[in-house]
Amino acid sequence: MKNTVLTFQQAKEKGEKLSMLTAYDYSTAKLVDEAGINSILVGDSLGNVILGYEDTISVTMEDMIHHSAAVARGAKEALVVCDMPFMSYQTSVYDGVVNAGRLMKEGRAGAVKLEGGQEVAPQIKAIVSAGIPVCAHLGLTPQSINVFGGHKVQGKTEAAAKKLIEDAKAVEEAGAFAVVLECVPAKLAQLVTQSLHIPTIGIGAGNVCDGQVLVYQDMLGMFSDFTPKFVRRFADIGSVMKEAFAAYDRAVKDGSFPGKEHEYAISDDVIEKLY
Ligand code: KIV
Repeated sequence: MKNTVLTFQQAKEKGEKLSMLTAYDYSTAKLVDEAGINSILVGDSLGNVILGYEDTISVTMEDMIHHSAAVARGAKEALVVCDMPFMSYQTSVYDGVVNAGRLMKEGRAGAVKLEGGQEVAPQIKAIVSAGIPVCAHLGLTPQSINVFGGHKVQGKTEAAAKKLIEDAKAVEEAGAFAVVLECVPAKLAQLVTQSLHIPTIGIGAGNVCDGQVLVYQDMLGMFSDFTPKFVRRFADIGSVMKEAFAAYDRAVKDGSFPGKEHEYAISDDVIEKLY
């Protein structure tokens, strides 16, 4: 069954957990979709894991549209949520609506995600009014990494925790259908989850959230630049890939690949006429 914003709302009401994973290309999206994951996030984490940047700041609208369209072609059931890149919505409500529209029209996303709380509530309201579902993102919001001074757990002081709760209520009030909570203490995430009618999707926010999201390269052991504490490795595909690449290298160099079974035939009559 196709996952929509209604799936998210109903899961919250029934107390059923929601699964979300990132994907950035057609083949991976197909696998994630076929595994029954509720939602695929075309995260701007593609800046790190696909494009090799240090952060998500340089990711462009064109990058997001390109990858979102590929994912959308592979996702039949999962709700495709596409990240709005840095400076595509912070600048104005108008920019936010225009760029969210491009992610849906050209990137074929079913929803967009943007980072921030009260300060982006007007953008959320306007984008939802234009017919585009919005997932909010609070806590450690990587586009603000330079303000935070690094990848740090958020909401640990009384003031910061109160602000996070207020922000969560503000994005819900503005019309967001879900909110990602990243790197937030589990007890605070529990409080936020209990205070909202929309589902919380945690990443480094404990298991009390209504759903979970991970970057797929992290959970498959395919990205070794850094591994956050909240990641569980569900498989070590990175090692499997490296071993397979090395086996291919050996087979090419010792002449055992390609074998007879990989060859295309031609009639000997034709070949003889060529000599
Ligand atoms: O870009 C991304 O992959 C994200 C997740 C970490 C939530 O925003």
